[in-house]
Amino acid sequence: MASELEKLRGELEKLIGELYEGEHKILVHGEGSAGARVMLVGEAPGEQETLQRRPFVGKAGKNLDEFLELAGIDRRELYVSNAVKFRPTKLSAAGRVVNRPPTREEVKLFLPWLKREIALVHPEVVVSLGNVPLRALLGPRCVIGDVHGRFQDAEGVRLYPMYHPASLIYNPSLRAVYAEDVRRLAAWLDGR
Ligand code: URA
Repeated sequence: MASELEKLRGELEKLIGELYEGEHKILVHGEGSAGARVMLVGEAPGEQETLQRRPFVGKAGKNLDEFLELAGIDRRELYVSNAVKFRPTKLSAAGRVVNRPPTREEVKLFLPWLKREIALVHPEVVVSLGNVPLRALLGPRCVIGDVHGRFQDAEGVRLYPMYHPASLIYNPSLRAVYAEDVRRLAAWLDGR
């Protein structure tokens, strides 16, 4: 029998297929099992994620893995997902298909599904990575720089905002902050 998460994914496939008929949107669903202690929510899949149909397997995923390892958190203990489940793309000036940030409409479209996914996984903590999932879950005026590394209440869901691992690629000075936020999360998990 299909699990509740599989059913949710099936419903979402159907909806997106209808809404974007003819566009062949490839969805990258969350990975992990219901009951995982920690649920990570990123922004949206990129090229590698779409090719492999798995979240966080590209460059940002490598950064993430590195820090999880530092903190002694095994990726297999996590449920990993994204606020938007398809790759937002645009054409570059050179005519190449490149990533773009998800639009507000795209985030809004997926938000009820993300909330249902969170309810089914029922983690002890949801870790938002970057501003996109943070604002989706906590409100449009939140800024990651103000709330990272501090637990928040998102309509009854315990939320721990962190910077997006991709921001470390562009801003290496964030690495120490990021490492400290991961360390505090790991300490909190250890103490429970
Ligand atoms: N960045 C994200 O936010 N999610 C992914 O799955 C990959 C990169």
